[in-house]
Amino acid sequence: MHISNIILPLLTLSVTTPLTASAAHINPHHKKSLAAQHELPKQVKRENVLAGTHKNKVKRLVKKKKRATCQVKFNATSIVTAPSTASETASLTNVGNWANATSTATDSNSASSSSTQQQQQPSSTTSAAAQATTSSTSSSGWFKVEEWSGNSFFDHVNFWEWNDPTHGTVDYLNRGDAWNSGLISINSNNRAVLAVDTTQQVSGGRKSVRVHGNRIFTGGLVLFDAYHMPTGCGTWPAWWQNGPNWPEGGEIDILEGVNSFGQNQVSLHTGNGCSMPNTMNNNQIGQLTTGGFDSYNCASYATSNQGCGVRDEKTQNAYGAGFNSIGGGVYAMRWSKAGITVWFFPRNAIPSDINNDEPNPSSWGTPMAHFPSDNCNPYQFFYDNFNIINTSLCGDWAGADSVWNYAGYAGQDQSCAAQTGYSTCSDYVLNSGSSFSEAYWEVSYVKYFNSTTEV
Ligand SMILES: *[C@@H]1O[C@H](CO)[C@@H](O)[C@H](O)[C@H]1NC(C)=O
Ligand SMILES: *[C@@H]1O[C@H](CO)[C@@H](O)[C@H](O)[C@H]1NC(C)=O
Ligand SMILES: *[C@@H]1O[C@H](CO)[C@@H](O)[C@H](O)[C@H]1NC(C)=O
Ligand SMILES: *[C@@H]1O[C@H](CO)[C@@H](O)[C@H](O)[C@H]1NC(C)=O
Repeated sequence: MHISNIILPLLTLSVTTPLTASAAHINPHHKKSLAAQHELPKQVKRENVLAGTHKNKVKRLVKKKKRATCQVKFNATSIVTAPSTASETASLTNVGNWANATSTATDSNSASSSSTQQQQQPSSTTSAAAQATTSSTSSSGWFKVEEWSGNSFFDHVNFWEWNDPTHGTVDYLNRGDAWNSGLISINSNNRAVLAVDTTQQVSGGRKSVRVHGNRIFTGGLVLFDAYHMPTGCGTWPAWWQNGPNWPEGGEIDILEGVNSFGQNQVSLHTGNGCSMPNTMNNNQIGQLTTGGFDSYNCASYATSNQGCGVRDEKTQNAYGAGFNSIGGGVYAMRWSKAGITVWFFPRNAIPSDINNDEPNPSSWGTPMAHFPSDNCNPYQFFYDNFNIINTSLCGDWAGADSVWNYAGYAGQDQSCAAQTGYSTCSDYVLNSGSSFSEAYWEVSYVKYFNSTTEV
């Protein structure tokens, strides 16, 4: 039985208040609160689907939500566009410095000896624009428009430095601190590493990173090649994307789970009006999760943020320790007129067209998840997305008591309480740093492709 089956009946009553509050709280004219607008409802989603709720918790969530909205300082969309007002310009000071620093840095791997932020960055000799101009049309019809890899990997992202909107026991570092403390690096295989601090005991939160891609896009194909992903009790890693005015700009969770899960879940969250045909499960390896709401309805507000979640119980090694044991593989997300589609290829079965930068999705076979466009226009319910890599710890999903104490879900046979001997996630995270040596991403590349015919 799924956790969501057990918990959702309780939630139906309790979530009404925060959702209403959340919807009312979202003011599209508050530009600086963009991040809060698209992030904060996610906590409600996590809470709904997997965490037990009760009145105190609901009160706490509403309270934190308000506080977090005021803490958020930048409009992510603006990072790649010129700020349009003086106040936006002011709020983007850090972002501007990053942009300048990355284009002037020269020495990639001697960051620890440097003293200015400019020199702390991994270097780049090739800008995204330059890469775009050097891309060529491939035989597949998809052409590469951006690549994050090697020493320039971190030039393509900015760092989330504020509190975790989903209440993780986590302390997100900025770029300079993350680089200097070794949480981010480019390893000897030329892959980007994003780790969490393994100091045995910490207070408040354990250090981690969350990076947002600078590319804002509407339609296309994104490949994510990782050799390792965070795993283990207390972790909540994700490779995902979303757009402005959550949920109106849409959210696509491509690779996500918690704790010692062995299965991936792909999810969509949208504004009202996006639904899936009841034949959907016939065309994908994963299957829609079941819950207290119609899981064919992707609308967040109409389903208390359940959205459309597809969990893949069949593909081996697509998540967690299994993924790491085979050297990971490639996740591909295609956002096109046909809908939104996610494939996973384990390391030993990556199609040669992917390795040759000539991706040909029509030859890839049955996807892990396919959300067709029949009753959900992918250009109406999704726009201006940017990708995110993050490793949260505990928080509303991984750290919920009901999840910490639960076993038998998503390929995790033993509860984290039993595995760790700790009765709460946050006690474990704060006192057992050496247990987080596997809580890192090792990413070979992120590549964006576009098509003049298919998108
Ligand atoms: C973010 O900033 C951009 C550029 O200034 C602006 O066009 C866009 O409307 C802003 N988005 C939100 C949600 O405020
Ligand atoms: C980048 O540096 C240039 C030259 O020093 C400066 O004129 C420009 O304002 C800076 N841009 C940002 C976004 O900080
Ligand atoms: C990290 O990603 C998860 C998964 O999407 C998200 O729910 C959580 O809020 C994120 N944490 C932060 C601080 O953004
Ligand atoms: C592909 O091109 C379209 C049209 O210019 C653009 O809106 C979209 O963001 C591009 N996708 C990517 C991945 O760059």
